[in-house]
Amino acid sequence: MELIKAMRGTRDIYDVEALKFNFIEDTAKELLENYGFGRIITPTFESTDLFKRGIGEGTDIVDKEMYTFSDRGDRSITLRPEGTAPVVRSYLENKTYAKEDLTKYYYINNMFRYERPQAGRYREFYQIGVEILGNASPMADAEVISMGYRLMEKLGIEDLKVNINSVGGNETRAKYREILVNYLTPKKDGLCTDCQTRYEANPLRVLDCKNKNCQELTVDAPMLPDNLNSEEKAHYETVKEYLDMFGVEYVENPRLVRGLDYYSSTVFEIITEKLGSQGTVLGGGRYDNLIKQLGDKEVPAVGFGSGLDRLMMLLGEDKIVNTPDIYISWMGEENIDYAFLVANKLRDNGVKVYIEYAPKSANAHRKKAFKLGAQREVIIDSESKANRTMGLKELSSRDVEVVAFDELLEKV
Ligand code: HAM
Repeated sequence: MELIKAMRGTRDIYDVEALKFNFIEDTAKELLENYGFGRIITPTFESTDLFKRGIGEGTDIVDKEMYTFSDRGDRSITLRPEGTAPVVRSYLENKTYAKEDLTKYYYINNMFRYERPQAGRYREFYQIGVEILGNASPMADAEVISMGYRLMEKLGIEDLKVNINSVGGNETRAKYREILVNYLTPKKDGLCTDCQTRYEANPLRVLDCKNKNCQELTVDAPMLPDNLNSEEKAHYETVKEYLDMFGVEYVENPRLVRGLDYYSSTVFEIITEKLGSQGTVLGGGRYDNLIKQLGDKEVPAVGFGSGLDRLMMLLGEDKIVNTPDIYISWMGEENIDYAFLVANKLRDNGVKVYIEYAPKSANAHRKKAFKLGAQREVIIDSESKANRTMGLKELSSRDVEVVAFDELLEKV
């Protein structure tokens, strides 16, 4: 019989990988809650229009990567490719803007993009995201960037670079786009085929292209930050001042543009060299127009999304120990009740206990306890059951101490 396998670009997360996932999730939750963010869980699928309007037609995500299909009621639905548009949908639908003037959400969700799978790129992947809605201050931008930076620090992930840029508002970008297209037109034939097709619709992406020819042809291209208006410039300068104040090391990268249409003003990415072409571990920016676009409300906002799968690849193995404090070795079928009595008493008091459901030889138990990396072993046989005692030993030593049931908690 042919075995059914997981779909291309998806995978099971278990064993060490699941421990890494848990560690990252727990670290992120603690950090983001310390910053006053509350969790939001949005549905896995949404109306297709949300992403078309939110992320923008003409972007790779909307044009090529969405999992879109009709459900049995003939509605066009899409598995979320990202988390920002759903958060904004919820914010508008639940009139959150009328209940509070500042909203701070975080989410840890799976996302779906029909991309060509490779190391660090999946069709189902996980993002840790944050969104601040209702504040236009450069402090919010700086805090979001600094939270991303601190998250990497807490995870112990090193050798990362924070890239920042400002892409300005709609008017600035429209003006700059014209300047850039004029600059690129005479050089068009030298660009890669991708850039030749997108240079008019999306000329900013040409600056971001990884192709050598495209990079050489644009060395002296006019840059967006030089074309910001005075208000946008002041905002960007203040973001940098706050980043300095927060001790965030960053580099200004005037070529940084993001793959989603909703950004205005500050954009940023955190990048590693260790994952080849999939080196962006976090990306985000300010999106002051998205809420108007989706719900006709003027609400400034900023946020980031970080790829949990990529963080897992970068996480050191030393972070992921999950070993039992105590392994219970029990011999003799008739002692199962006493063995579990001991196990549950310990567990109720916060001790991590590993116990099996079938009796084994003392030797087989010891092997398993070593394999699991347990610190101590509790040994139970008929004699200990009869006396309400047990043997307690450090796994690394040979000495066994006899401990009464009532003394056990004190001893461990
Ligand atoms: P994004 O840059 O499309 O932004 O995705 C954010 C992060 O998700 C990427 O930097 C990467 O780490 C991870 N990622 C994206 N695609 C994949 C994939 N196929 N496999 C593995 N990881 C992937 C957004 O999604 C925005 N919603 C971020 C944001 C929030 N901006 C403002 N608020």
